[in-house]
Amino acid sequence: MNLIFLGPPGVGKGTVAKFVMEKKKIPQISTGDLLREEIKQDTELGNQAKSYMDSGQLVPDELIINFLKERIQEDDCKKGFILDGFPRTVPQAEALSEIDHVIHFLANEETIIQRLSGRRTCRKCRAIFHIKNIPPNVEGVCDKCSGELYQRADDQPKAIKKRLEVYEQQTEPLIDFYKEKGLLKDVDTEKPLDGIFKDVLVALK
Ligand code: AP5
Repeated sequence: MNLIFLGPPGVGKGTVAKFVMEKKKIPQISTGDLLREEIKQDTELGNQAKSYMDSGQLVPDELIINFLKERIQEDDCKKGFILDGFPRTVPQAEALSEIDHVIHFLANEETIIQRLSGRRTCRKCRAIFHIKNIPPNVEGVCDKCSGELYQRADDQPKAIKKRLEVYEQQTEPLIDFYKEKGLLKDVDTEKPLDGIFKDVLVALK
């Protein structure tokens, strides 16, 4: 089952992807996480991507498309995958084939800004928390692996604003792109996570 999770930054794609990954036993492929790992490893791609990411802009298609295509050729993707954060432009979407469902996550802008500005992520296992909505048991410490929780550089107000603009201009056209293919399923995320998980599983039937 090949899935795309589409939606604005901070809507909850990563949070839901981790749940679906466990349920369906297919990997979550977050291009944002992969790029952050490249930065950490100080690779050429990481160095090229960093300034785009920190300022909230998209990494150019020519850097990301082949990188993603190579990743989905790996053995763990044989039974399917969840693309979380890819595609984000029409050329990226055109580079993909054999997609079964596109889940389109919706929330209003106020909710998105609240979610992004309170997000904390584990440096070690990448678990996602929120200081108010989904707080860890001990402040600053991951419940799952005791790793350190940190705030992403692009979760600052200026970069959040830029990411929302970029989403509207470059990624929203994909809604019609996938609607025309009959693949798009809307999921409202203005509700507690349990309800969202249920709605996503129904959409995948
Ligand atoms: P990326 O890492 O993909 O960031 P994003 O799309 O902006 O998405 P986020 O990770 O910010 O949000 P999310 O929807 O996963 O929300 P989450 O589950 O964390 O990309 C970062 C950058 O990398 C891009 O700006 C770009 O530069 C580059 N990049 C990546 N892919 C690229 C590509 N394909 N092409 C070009 N460039 C690319 O949830 C957010 C918060 O809300 C959390 O705190 C969570 O706990 C909380 N929360 C979630 N759901 C709920 C709920 N239902 N109720 C209450 N709180 C909730």
